[in-house]
Amino acid sequence: MEAMITLASRQLDAQNSLLTIQDLKKYFPAKKSHFATRRDRIRNFRRIEPSPPNETVSDNSYSGDRKRLYVKAVDGVSFSINRSEIFALVGESGCGKTTIARMIVGLLRPTSGKILFQGKEMNPRNRKLLKQMRRNVQIIFQDPYSSLDPTMSIGRSISEPLASFGFPKGERKARVQQLLVEVGLRAEDAEKRPREFSGGQRQRIAVARALAVNPQLIIADEPVSALDISVRAQILNLLLDLKDRKNISFLLIAHDLSMVRHIADRVAVMHLGRIVELSDNSGFFETTLHPYSNALLSAVPIPDPAKKRERLVLKGELPNPINPPSGCRFHTRCVKKFDSCDKIDPQLLEYNPGHYVACLLYNQSGKETQSTLNTGNLVS
Ligand SMILES: Nc1ncnc2c1ncn2[C@@H]1O[C@H](COP(=O)(O)OP(=O)(O)OP(=O)(O)O)[C@@H](O)[C@H]1O
Ligand code: SF4
Ligand SMILES: [Mg+2]
Repeated sequence: MEAMITLASRQLDAQNSLLTIQDLKKYFPAKKSHFATRRDRIRNFRRIEPSPPNETVSDNSYSGDRKRLYVKAVDGVSFSINRSEIFALVGESGCGKTTIARMIVGLLRPTSGKILFQGKEMNPRNRKLLKQMRRNVQIIFQDPYSSLDPTMSIGRSISEPLASFGFPKGERKARVQQLLVEVGLRAEDAEKRPREFSGGQRQRIAVARALAVNPQLIIADEPVSALDISVRAQILNLLLDLKDRKNISFLLIAHDLSMVRHIADRVAVMHLGRIVELSDNSGFFETTLHPYSNALLSAVPIPDPAKKRERLVLKGELPNPINPPSGCRFHTRCVKKFDSCDKIDPQLLEYNPGHYVACLLYNQSGKETQSTLNTGNLVS
């Protein structure tokens, strides 16, 4: 049988991409608050899994501890982002989207896995490469107000990154004014404080600040979810314009699939720390494969009143990332679940060219494995 291609193996060829992440994991030590009740705590501590493998990321070694439990916030994620591409990461709250973003910009150390920028692996000891990465990868957060110092004029806020990266002092003022105009504000706004702007304008300021040092990739973590619907489209169009005009790539983290459909080139759906589907925009929205993606999509209104979509309501809670369900992590809520789903952990495999899915319904080698139940990712 023709071997199916896993996304992780394809990443190894992705030297030409701007950013590549390979088998990235982040396990946080669990706190008591992660268990709802004393009974839950006892039950979960009895179900302690074997220690996570002793894996290393650059010089960041991680060794599991039998007595500790870990929140598997990100549990083996691989993807790459191309130049001048908007790559969207979607999924329910708590599935690990922001944790990935924080690892990429160096705010969190991965437990294991690799992050490569322009083919070079990030290594905390390589300061030159880290500095280059910090300049080239900027992040915009959901709430622009909390990321701007209320006591500083926005001109000063925008010129801060210019100062850190050695932009000549005499040219900073003109650069700030140019950036403000580029994001649709006025040059004279530089003297004002953040409180003098609306939410949408503040997000434009955050975009101007991210643009200051000419980054190649901007991570936008829910950039419009705190804004009024009326200004969301303006900010999204600004991102699209920057992509086209300046060839900037974006990692767009979002809940709203209708917005993703409008602007993303490729889409990855995350569930409980893993990617379950990844495809280009048309492949994803026209031939959605994974039952979880279908449930997320069923909540998106269709603009054509003649068409109707059946709403698939996800039943049950998002499982605890400390003890993810055995086999397919989605089996406790999946309407298509069958016998093997709680025993075999599906891999992310290429089903159609460029369209990957982690579901046993589409996994031919998985089907074979179901009949023999002695190979693959069988969970004991
Ligand atoms: N510093 C931390 N310590 C312990 N657990 C954490 C920490 N940061 C995040 N987590 C846990 O990791 C998981 C993923 O969190 P993350 O913030 O990445 O989710 P998210 O997909 O961005 O969610 P949202 O859509 O609500 O922003 C959650 O279960 C969260 O509780
Ligand atoms: S593997 Fe089974 S439980 Fe998981 S998504 Fe596919 S059908 Fe549903
Ligand atoms: Mg988040």
